[in-house]
Amino acid sequence: MEQQRRLDYLIHPATSALQGRIQVPGDKSISHRAVILGALAAGASECRGFLDSADTRATMAALRQMGVQMSLEGEHLCVNGVGLHGLSAPPAALDLGNSGTSARLLLGVLAGQRFSTTLCGDESLQRRPMRRVADPLNAMQAEVQITPDGALPARITGNRRLRAIRYELPVASAQLKSALLLAGLYAEGETVLTEPAPTRDHTERMLAHFGCPIARAGAQLRLSSRPLQANALQIPGDISSAAFLLVAASIVPGSDVLIEGVGLNPTRHAVLEILRLMGADLSIDNRVEASGEPRADLRVKYRPLQGITIPRALVPVAIDEFPAIMAAAAHARGETVLHGAAELRVKESDRIAALAAGLQNLGLRVATSPDGLRVQGGRPDAGVVHSYGDHRIAMAFAITALAATGPVTVQDCKNIDTSFPGFIRCIQQIGWEISDKAVRID
Ligand code: S3P
Repeated sequence: MEQQRRLDYLIHPATSALQGRIQVPGDKSISHRAVILGALAAGASECRGFLDSADTRATMAALRQMGVQMSLEGEHLCVNGVGLHGLSAPPAALDLGNSGTSARLLLGVLAGQRFSTTLCGDESLQRRPMRRVADPLNAMQAEVQITPDGALPARITGNRRLRAIRYELPVASAQLKSALLLAGLYAEGETVLTEPAPTRDHTERMLAHFGCPIARAGAQLRLSSRPLQANALQIPGDISSAAFLLVAASIVPGSDVLIEGVGLNPTRHAVLEILRLMGADLSIDNRVEASGEPRADLRVKYRPLQGITIPRALVPVAIDEFPAIMAAAAHARGETVLHGAAELRVKESDRIAALAAGLQNLGLRVATSPDGLRVQGGRPDAGVVHSYGDHRIAMAFAITALAATGPVTVQDCKNIDTSFPGFIRCIQQIGWEISDKAVRID
């Protein structure tokens, strides 16, 4: 039997300033959409800056199982699109691993196919809420069956004629919005969606880039299906990955780091505003736009941070950055308060509980509520923390450890590869010494 191995990191506090110029891997959300829309377009799409990670490979594998040919060399992806109606029945269930984005977006696509499919995932993905997607798809006359707990595995029956709906999203979720827009490509009539709060709009931007513009008026989106046409794409660096480096340089005295080519989509860059409110020294340079997505270079220099109450309006548009922001809060003077973030409880882990447990293990005072947490900042101690198999929790604690009073062991870091392969290499490049050790568990 193959031995199960767990990867832990033993992180020593940084002994000198972080300095240099680096790039982070391509944006995960945009990379998923590039493979999916590239597959559904007519013709070959070339994509530069693609994120080669466990999550995006899950999306690629699922589409390959449905007959889409593609190649990936480094960050260069070529997809031979089969057109909206060109997918074929997969030989087996589609296993999306740890990736919520793959599962939810593909549910939308599969609802409109002529063939039936089964979707499943790893233990964490099979705990995540899917009823929010299945219910409106079924209201479009799809047939999506999930477990009585509202989770995967899902059975999607093919050959249904989808009808467009008008729908008010009950949660601010870009994955839900995107699933319904993708199903809308297969529906008769106009799909009209209203968002309770703005969420990342990469699907809308990329649909327009592939020839199917979405009309937006305030919180309302309208889609009338059109065939998608292949197009070249350039994907910016992932701001959610950059966030960890922004925090790292903010908390290690003397640091000065430039991160090149980071995606600055206005529905994603709230983390910059939050860190600035905390006193971070951030500047933006070389703004350009490529393939409908803005990008720029971010420079960050060390400056002491202070705790803040995070403005509620920024929560849905910084939802993936709270692990990094709480690492900043751990080193800030005073209290940082987060409310309105109940969605954090249903990410790759319960991020509110995971952050609270780890920061408490490092000696900080933390209180949780159903929709957020309060962190009394200071100087985290040495200790042992667990990531609960969640890539962003693992990276948040690794960064927290940088300015702790002693070494911190971060348990179960293997899943960092789901969004930020090369995380360790990246931080070593700016002068951080880190030692890793693989620890076997029975
Ligand atoms: C994503 C949307 C967000 C985010 C996730 C990626 C996307 O999830 O947390 O990491 O690519 O659409 P929700 O839409 O569920 O908030």
